[in-house]
Amino acid sequence: MRIVDLRSDTVTKPSPEMWDAIRSLDDSKIGDDVEGEDPTVNELEEKAARVIGKEAALLVTSGTQGNLVSLLSQTTPGDEILLEELSHIFKNEVGSAARIGGLMIRTYPSNKGVPSLDKLQKLIRDKDDIHEPPTTLFSGENTHNYHGGVIIRPEIIKDMKEFSEQNDLKLHLDGARIFNAAVSLKIPVTEFTKSVDSVMFCLSKGLSCPVGSIVAGSKEFITSARRYRKMLGGGMRQAGIIASFGLIALEQKWINRLEEDHKNAKLLAEGIETYDLPIKVHKPETNIVIVELNKKTHIFKIVNTLGKEGILAFNISKEKIRFVTHYGIDEDDIEYSIEKISDVLSNFLSE
Ligand SMILES: Cc1ncc(COP(=O)(O)O)c(C=O)c1O
Repeated sequence: MRIVDLRSDTVTKPSPEMWDAIRSLDDSKIGDDVEGEDPTVNELEEKAARVIGKEAALLVTSGTQGNLVSLLSQTTPGDEILLEELSHIFKNEVGSAARIGGLMIRTYPSNKGVPSLDKLQKLIRDKDDIHEPPTTLFSGENTHNYHGGVIIRPEIIKDMKEFSEQNDLKLHLDGARIFNAAVSLKIPVTEFTKSVDSVMFCLSKGLSCPVGSIVAGSKEFITSARRYRKMLGGGMRQAGIIASFGLIALEQKWINRLEEDHKNAKLLAEGIETYDLPIKVHKPETNIVIVELNKKTHIFKIVNTLGKEGILAFNISKEKIRFVTHYGIDEDDIEYSIEKISDVLSNFLSE
């Protein structure tokens, strides 16, 4: 059966160039990275820092680990941190900030990831009051996964930075898909990252590496992040084997490929939108399409049936189904999916 896997951009397999890169490795190109002796990892970290516009960078095993080392490096147990209420760190990272970091989590509402800074001001604790935990870190997510891959514009991030400075907070950016934002707006990725203290981005999503994420920031921050990565069991040995995929992923040509995923997402959304059904299709800004069901129904049954028809997707709430485009999905897959999705949704949602 033909399968179109639109569950996530994490399901991507490496490109032929990535496989070539790994085949060309030999003993001289790998070493013990815990000792800082893996030349390929060092090259990747230098390149990542340059591309993302920060002093230094660190290869970590996953986005989850990257976010956690960023929080641990910039807070003290007992501090309070501000997380967007639908953020991946809050919803999907197993409460590690609380369990491992000893941090109090305060969530803030937003308009598709964009906070109201006036409202946020009211959440800041009084540092002079001995009864209150100090607020020390503020985090944003870009693109925002649960809000449908929406982009938080650089001018908003600048405002978030000003707010952070006024309140003596570190600003962290979960930029798992930050290159999607840059490619979609056709601006340098550094426009998004220059105002933040720390940024995490994933190599293993749209950039199609099998494993790995990057955290970046000042040299001092990375020195601390390296210690916490070790604490969390993320000190890797001959990690050049995975870093070699990342070196290809950070080629501008490969980053620009994300444009195809955005075109395919648009095509998918436009195709689904033509159905005369009680649904709302959120206009994609990048590679995520959210279909919201306006009728009370069994979303699990719909997602299961889609799966049985070969169209794999996730429901991200009781009303929303998420489709993600990525490397390995082409226009033909999208046209095929539109037909299948139409059949399944019509069966469930037509009167
Ligand atoms: C916005 C965001 N941040 C962080 C992560 C975590 O990445 P990983 O799955 O590599 O831990 C994800 C994963 O889907 C994500 O969507």
